[in-house]
Amino acid sequence: MTRPTASLIEGDGIGPEIAAATVRAVEAAGGQVTWERVDAGAGAVDKHKDPLPQATIDSIKQNQLALKGPLATPSGGGYRSVNVTLRQQFDLYANVRPVRTIAGVPSRYTDVDLVIVRENTEDLYAGVEHYVDPRRTAAESIAIITKFGSERVIIYAFEYARRHGRKKITLVHKANILKMSNGLFLDCGRDIAKRYPDIAFDDMIVDATAMKLVLNPERFDVIVTMNLFGDILSDLTAGLVGGLGVAPAANIGSLDSGGCAMFEAVHGTAPDIAGKGIANPTGLMLSAAMLLDYVEQREAGDRLRKGVYAALAAAETRTGDLGGKANTEQYTDAVIRLMR
Ligand SMILES: NC(=O)c1ccc[n+]([C@@H]2O[C@H](COP(=O)([O-])OP(=O)(O)OC[C@H]3O[C@@H](n4cnc5c(N)ncnc54)[C@H](O)[C@@H]3O)[C@@H](O)[C@H]2O)c1
Repeated sequence: MTRPTASLIEGDGIGPEIAAATVRAVEAAGGQVTWERVDAGAGAVDKHKDPLPQATIDSIKQNQLALKGPLATPSGGGYRSVNVTLRQQFDLYANVRPVRTIAGVPSRYTDVDLVIVRENTEDLYAGVEHYVDPRRTAAESIAIITKFGSERVIIYAFEYARRHGRKKITLVHKANILKMSNGLFLDCGRDIAKRYPDIAFDDMIVDATAMKLVLNPERFDVIVTMNLFGDILSDLTAGLVGGLGVAPAANIGSLDSGGCAMFEAVHGTAPDIAGKGIANPTGLMLSAAMLLDYVEQREAGDRLRKGVYAALAAAETRTGDLGGKANTEQYTDAVIRLMR
């Protein structure tokens, strides 16, 4: 097995604490990854006067693999969001957000296990908007949906389903009203589904999806959808299993832009608890487990998940934000002990 190198962006706030915990846990799980530490975010502004230094971009380009902690975008100074810049630079077109019920993590449901695959580059977030008149009494934002953008993310969702033994894809849209843009996305889905007879396919209007996710989330397996709906629904689904603190994410880039894959915790920098040694590293650990799956170290990924789920199950080993008694180090020790 070749040992991949991954760019590690520890990030701001609690980032360095949860990154250190995650690196320890990956190693204990037998993950064969060499970490190349690079800077981004507010910390990079202090050091390099740039929230996304060229050296960081070069490192990700070279390694085609990155793990990222949370970043604070410095206010003032006219800096662009690092997350948005990375997404554009590496054409990270598929955002993958798995959630599942975790024993011990407070939530209203017992049997959620679903994945949202969100198109990440088009739709209302394509950045095409303007004021209609000079007095700024009206504005337009334009949703761009292309066949190219739709097909690649839908194909990614089907391939992901196959690789991960998932049985069903639900395409979420609003094609009853947005007949052209969302109709195009839906048509692409129906066409592509014919190539995957082993995976069940249906589609659902986004508002009905929101209701059914809350009433009966167990019925969903893989959801594929456009950027805006995916943004909203992926936070909703994180809420079904205990919140953003336990939610991992992957961002998959196009081959044309270097074929990068970036894995990240989706919570913020938690400045209120930074430096106190009590942060919960679960989101970043589960993202690292996705990274291990991605580099075909599935056994190490499974071992890491096993340790995380076992440590979360008991109040003694769970972190304080989830009602437990452990700090970051005690939790990480438990993850490592219980993965064996
Ligand atoms: N992906 C990212 O890089 C990302 C995402 C969201 C917010 N941010 C940035 O983070 C900063 C703070 O944002 P915010 O306060 O809205 O959200 P936040 O997620 O940082 O914090 C919200 C609450 O959740 C708690 N929390 C979050 N993660 C935790 C963890 N791992 N363990 C224990 N507790 C945790 C915090 O202590 C806080 O009480 C802002 O600068 C924002 O821009 C970055």
